Order: sequence, then structure tokens, then C-alpha cells
Amino acid sequence: MKFNITVIPGDGIGPEVTEQAKKALEAISEVYDHTFVYEEVLMGACAIDKTGNPLPEATLTSCKKSDAILFGAIGDPKYDNDPTAKVRPEQGLLKLRKELGLFCNVRPVKAFDALLSHSPLKEERIKGTDITIYRELTGGIYFGIKELSDDGKIAFDGCSYTVEEIERMGHLAFKAAQNRKKRLTLVDKANVLETSRLWRKTITNLATQYPDVTVDTMFVDNAAMQLILNPKQFDVILTENLFGDILSDEASVIGGSIGLLASASVGTDNALFEPIHGSFPQAKGKDIANPLASILSAAMLLKHLELHKEAAVIERAVQKSLELGITTQDINSENHFTTSKVGDFVVDYIHNQEDSNINFVNVHMGQSTII
Ligand code: IPM
Ligand code: MG
Repeated sequence: MKFNITVIPGDGIGPEVTEQAKKALEAISEVYDHTFVYEEVLMGACAIDKTGNPLPEATLTSCKKSDAILFGAIGDPKYDNDPTAKVRPEQGLLKLRKELGLFCNVRPVKAFDALLSHSPLKEERIKGTDITIYRELTGGIYFGIKELSDDGKIAFDGCSYTVEEIERMGHLAFKAAQNRKKRLTLVDKANVLETSRLWRKTITNLATQYPDVTVDTMFVDNAAMQLILNPKQFDVILTENLFGDILSDEASVIGGSIGLLASASVGTDNALFEPIHGSFPQAKGKDIANPLASILSAAMLLKHLELHKEAAVIERAVQKSLELGITTQDINSENHFTTSKVGDFVVDYIHNQEDSNINFVNVHMGQSTII
């Protein structure tokens, strides 16, 4: 089959990890006889540098007509350290989410067995953890009214949600729970925030349509603690934009590295796939960044295109790279591989999925990975 994919490498390590994900998609297209037509476009700091606009019109147009979007990362320290900057790279991503209506962000968090000892958390606490975070992505404080008083001494960020925004998220999260362990935890701050009380009321009402799903609620401060104290209690976590942003970074510790967490941002017409890690500017161009989150994002992209068998192959390749220790330095600081070598291994695996053909000697010499 033929699909149009818009590729947004973005800033920092974005281009180098996206390159590996593209390599994996190319290998899939060769083995399973698909055609992926890529269109590469600008967004973020690189787009500001070239066009003055973090989300050029051409990028938006390409995304709107594509079957799926593969995105790398956004952000540059030269803007982070300048509070007076009028244009910021992140505005590009936020505007893209809003314009495409990508209201639901899905972030799976798994404790990979091969990495249990790499997490700073105790093995017995995290083994078997399998959570999916459903984060609302186009509402809340991110998109509320923002104000700064004329004297620059009072700042304001408004947070609002409508019942419709909560319900459309709720339906997706409930449906996900039905296909998983049938547990849904709504994370909010209903003891303080009016918006959280609306989330509780709306989700509690919606629950009657999903009687097979057990729903509970948890305050976000407690959820932050429970996530690392006893992560196995969670199945699907449903939450608003800002809480989801924070909790998903925290949850990445369970997986052993933020370099492993992929995500999908979906709306009614479009879908975007991206690693949850940021642009990691210190690593830019050094060939040391972990490409697995981007590669796993490509697997989520394939699932979105209903190419489930193909997505599963990529997931197995990642699993294998972790088992064999063909990983970057965030996971193994002593014996590690470069970004592109990890990508090469995944490509090799896709082409030759028989374990018996893996040449362990060469793997550990950092040479060819498959005989
Ligand atoms: C994320 C990122 C973004 C967010 C930034 C880059 C605007 O942290 O996707 O989690 O806060 O949503
Ligand atoms: Mg974030």
C-alpha cells in the first residue's frame, strides 16, 4: 500500500533520531512491499531561523494532507534562556496540535524486562508495569488566555475546559481501557480546581456507558507519588494537558530511560507520532542520542495505518536491541552504540527476523549485526 508521510525532524537531536525511524520505515516498506512517500518540512527553531515562523504555512499544508506525521523534537536553548523572545520554537508544535485538532495524546509506559536494573526504581516495584497515559492535548492552561500586565509584574495563564473536550477524551480513554485491563484512573486536582471538578463530573457520567471499566480518581500530587511507589496499580491514566505533560516525563523513569517513550497525538482527521523526549541540545549532532523512542513512534504510526504486523516487527526489533545490549549510552554507559548503529541493528532485524542469524560476536564489536 502507498502512504504519504510528512516528516518534521525539528530541532536538536530530532533530525538524527528521526533519520533512524525513517530507516526502519524504509526497511518495512521493502520487506512488506509498501510505499511510503515522505515530505520533509520545517518546524521549531530551525523554521524560525529559515523563515521567521516556527510553523510555516507549507508545513501545515503538508501535515493536513498526509496520512501520518512523524515528528522529532522541538526547542533550542537560545530561546529558553531569553524570556523576552516574542517568537518561540514550541509555539510551532502547539499551533500544529491546535490547527490539526490533535486533542488526544497517548503515551505508553512499559517496564522492559531487559532494562529493569537500569531504572533508579527498585526492580520488584516496576517489573510488569504497563500503563497508557491519555493526556488531553489542545486545551487547559496551555491554550488559555495569557496576560502580562503593562508593568511586567503580574502574569496570568487561564485554564478552561468544556464538557465536549472532556467527553471526547473520555471516550477514547474508556475504549482503550476496554481493550486492556479495564481500569481507568482519572488524575485531577478536584479538591482545588474548578476545571478538575468538571472533569470528575463528566467522566463519572460517561462511566455509565462503559460498565465493564472500573474507574477511580486520584489527585495529581498523590498520583505523582503513586506512579513511582506502586506503578503496577495503573492501567489507563486519563488526565488534562499540563498534568499529563508532567506525569509522562516522571513515568519515563519506570522504563529506564526517557529515550524509550513514544507517543501518538490523534484527532479526527490527522495523527502525529513523536518521541516524548525533548531536543536534548547537548547531544545534537554527536550520534549519541537514543533513537528507540522515535523508532517506537514509527511503530505507533504503522498501527495507525492499520499495519499491525509491521508495527509488531519494529517492536520486536527494539525488544531485541535491548536484550542484546545494542543501546545508546543513556541505557548503558560502559558498552554502548551510536544512534545510527542502533538504527542499523533495527533495520537489519527487520530484514532478517530469524534470531538464529544474529551474530553476537559482531554485534558486540559494533560491526555488522546480522550475518
Ligand atoms: C511534550 C513537550 C511539549 C509540551 C513542549 C515542547 C511544548 O514537553 O510534548 O511533552 O509541553 O507539550
Ligand atoms: Mg513534555
